[in-house]
Amino acid sequence: MQIGVCYYPEQWPRSMWANDARRMAELGITHVRIAEFAWSRMEPRAGVHDWEWLDEAIETLAAQGLKLVLGTPTAAPPMWLIERHPEILPVRADGTRWNQGSRRHYDIASDIYRQECVRITEAMAQRYGKHPAVVAWQTDNELGCHETVPSYSPAALRRFRAWLQQRYGTVEALNTAWGNVFWSMEYPSFEQVGLPVLTPTDANPSHLLDFRRYMSDEVASFHREQADVLRRHAPHADVLHNFMGFFTTFDHYRFAADKAIDVATWDSYPIARTESIGLPDAQKARYARTAHPDVSAFDHDRYRGVGAGRFWVMEQQAGPVNWAAWNPVPAPGMVRLWAYEAFAHGAELVSYFRWRQCPYAQEQMHSGLNLPNDELSPGGKEVAQATREIAGTEALRSLAPTERAAVALVFDYETQWIFEIQRHGAGFDYQTLAFDYYSALREQGFDVDIVSRHADLSAYRLVVVPSLAVIDNAFVAQIERSDAHWVIGPRSGSKTTNFAIPDTLPPGALQRVLPFQVLEAESLRPTLAPAISIGEASGTAIHWREHVRPNDGARVDARFDDGWPALVSRGRVRYVAAWLTHGLHYAVLGDAARASGLVPQALPEGLRLARRGGLTFAFNFGDTRVQAPAPARAQFVLGEAALCTGDVCAWRDPH
Ligand code: GAL
Repeated sequence: MQIGVCYYPEQWPRSMWANDARRMAELGITHVRIAEFAWSRMEPRAGVHDWEWLDEAIETLAAQGLKLVLGTPTAAPPMWLIERHPEILPVRADGTRWNQGSRRHYDIASDIYRQECVRITEAMAQRYGKHPAVVAWQTDNELGCHETVPSYSPAALRRFRAWLQQRYGTVEALNTAWGNVFWSMEYPSFEQVGLPVLTPTDANPSHLLDFRRYMSDEVASFHREQADVLRRHAPHADVLHNFMGFFTTFDHYRFAADKAIDVATWDSYPIARTESIGLPDAQKARYARTAHPDVSAFDHDRYRGVGAGRFWVMEQQAGPVNWAAWNPVPAPGMVRLWAYEAFAHGAELVSYFRWRQCPYAQEQMHSGLNLPNDELSPGGKEVAQATREIAGTEALRSLAPTERAAVALVFDYETQWIFEIQRHGAGFDYQTLAFDYYSALREQGFDVDIVSRHADLSAYRLVVVPSLAVIDNAFVAQIERSDAHWVIGPRSGSKTTNFAIPDTLPPGALQRVLPFQVLEAESLRPTLAPAISIGEASGTAIHWREHVRPNDGARVDARFDDGWPALVSRGRVRYVAAWLTHGLHYAVLGDAARASGLVPQALPEGLRLARRGGLTFAFNFGDTRVQAPAPARAQFVLGEAALCTGDVCAWRDPH
């Protein structure tokens, strides 16, 4: 359990650095991330480097025993570079270019920009790659943030065509795969294929999907170009990138494949995230100062999977932020709680953003561990408390890594893209559905591994698939081989890899293990709400429902009030033929868990549990005092069972 901080020496007079470093060490901070936006200081003019200030900053921090994470500065191309190569500015869907004057103003497909990035990365890595205090390197910053990916530039068009040629070989194969006979869209050669934008009505969904796949690969290769340089010059350091919460523009599993990163890191702003995702307003209001209890956990569990077990929080909210619709001050305790929550989900390091609030420029309303006048902020005081507790508690200092959970939730980036391209009904958002399932599991006390559909699923007791647009034979084989119970949600198996309806109707290949077919699918306006009860729970379908026909061997376990099946099953495999209201998801998942031999716990509202290394942590996100369900002879290593809002405790079960 280590605590870090993000620091920008270039934004403060040198006379402050030594005191900053000393206070960081005193606060119990072990890691400091620096440099990720400082290109204009590292290279003030083309080819003219100034390392002297960075040398001094690194030495000053290292002298206090602090370990450094160095960021390559490529999220902030300097003005001289834009002046020389204005063509590296990204192009928006409407054909206009983003301007300079903030950050991320580059086209990820630009060869020129990629060369510049490799050049500055190489210069930095040559200088600091072997420095003993530099333990990790971050490439760029939040790839894809601010919707600068995708870019619709001439460079992107050129590279997209090459990507298509690689994928399809011949243009005839592409025409067949996309169904281009429809509306005379057949291309005579790859040179006629355009970018899927500015079409009078929808572009071909297959075209859109391939463009998203291509852009996702571009993000991964952009990182790899820098990672390769870093591996050469800094062979002993961890290479990483800081991903974002609830972010699906690229496939993070593909990004991380083949050891492209050593550890997955992500940036956690729970309150702002709660405000900006598709939650009902009542939930946003309820958790306005604590963040929704599952918002951070969802990404902790997702990035633990992306990092094959290793993850950090690279930026952690330390107080009010500046970028959501509303930015309240967190409830007392939350800044401390979020660190323990991350650790309980397996994080090795939680690094707060940022050391000190900056009184000028874009983020002046964004808090840090210190106020602009250098006083410790309320969040900073909570971090001081956490580091003291950790330092004084052997059980927290030497916590073993997270073990495999009994429950897996399959999260799939392509499914997100497919249903964004073809929502079919307002309100259908795959990630929101996945989050609802996740939340229903967490409310019942389960630890959850979020995994890719390609992961080995054989060791889980319960596998939950909120939806999986393309179900191939390999995935069905996983179901056949496993002893787990499976819950598979709506729209699963509804498309082929080429974005067409399967010949055998949805759910395609899934029919091998669960024989039913989707005859028609409907999206539901809010006034269309087929009702249903499952056990004690009653509710309705929302957003989406399917009219399914069970075939021989399938059982109907529940029906809507108009007679259509809502749940069909065979043996260990269940299918949910609609997006159901939350209480029904809770019931369906609880039943499946019990059938698989697991024991759901009915936790008080706002309370969550997470287990790691023999400890159980409990967190109270609710607005009333609650009792954590610790067994009678539990040994507490942190806090106690009675938890007020924003409080946390941890215990070891008596054995
Ligand atoms: C992140 C970003 C940081 C900072 C922060 C503010 O998205 O990586 O540089 O802008 O947000 O919350």
